[in-house]
Amino acid sequence: MRHLLTLQDLPRDTLERLLDAAQALRPDALRRGPHRPLRGLTVANLFFEPSTRTRASFQLAAQRLGADVVNFDAESSSTRKGETLVDTLRNLEAMGAGLFVVRHTHSNVLTALAAAAAENSSVVSAGDGRSSHPTQGLLDMLTIRQHKGEYFSRLSVAIIGDIRHSRVARSDVEALRTLGVRDIRIAGPESLLPDADAEAFHGTRTFHDLAQALDGCDVVMMLRLQRERMDEGLVSSLEEYYRDWGLSPEALALAKPDAIVLHPGPMNRGVEIADAVADGPQSVILDQVSNGVAVRMAVLEALAR
Ligand code: CP
Repeated sequence: MRHLLTLQDLPRDTLERLLDAAQALRPDALRRGPHRPLRGLTVANLFFEPSTRTRASFQLAAQRLGADVVNFDAESSSTRKGETLVDTLRNLEAMGAGLFVVRHTHSNVLTALAAAAAENSSVVSAGDGRSSHPTQGLLDMLTIRQHKGEYFSRLSVAIIGDIRHSRVARSDVEALRTLGVRDIRIAGPESLLPDADAEAFHGTRTFHDLAQALDGCDVVMMLRLQRERMDEGLVSSLEEYYRDWGLSPEALALAKPDAIVLHPGPMNRGVEIADAVADGPQSVILDQVSNGVAVRMAVLEALAR
């Protein structure tokens, strides 16, 4: 692997190898151990959108593998004076950085940076516009595998909420399809569903009713309601959204009794998910966060040369 920009077209054996590597790294993920294969390398984190989980976990992943880390602050950087992102990357390369973790609003930016990177540099997506969030997809698959085993083809998975604007939903569907899940359900208000012919959601089933989407499923993946969608008139009110699409304990009871609940964060408690569910026994949301460090360690190690 030279870069990791998407999970689309990532072969199943490569994806599974990354999950196996992340699982093996779990003990090293939450405290610094002796495994330091990135010693001497420099990782640059370039975030042009807000982040808590992804930014912190990439930083911790790099440090726990022994790398030096540059946390580039977009707001106080010379990009504010008009420097291009390609020039920014080249200047950081000139200081010895070779692994670039990038989050950006515009989908074409990561591809352009990967094309401009030196031969021995790698770019990894930390969130690419609306189109992909590959390490989130990987950490979600690792979390599902830990709780439901490796036979993904037996699982029914419901992804609920703002599917239309979600890069997480796109990467999750790509990974679930690759791992053989046949029953992938997407559900949300009409205004937040993707176009019927959207390539990214090929092979999924669309539901317009929460109860039907949850019926008998093994895995419930809730998505953040992006509040800016209210300003765009795509959602009428937070109260109505919770009434129709919020995951309450009563709604969750429609899934299998041992169903697990995922959410990529940040959560809007009381909007897309009830406190009792977010903090309840079926929630694996903090497992996702811990797995994020292990998955990002596995990805950085696979890219490091
Ligand atoms: N899941 C996720 O991408 O969270 P952050 O925006 O906090 O990184």
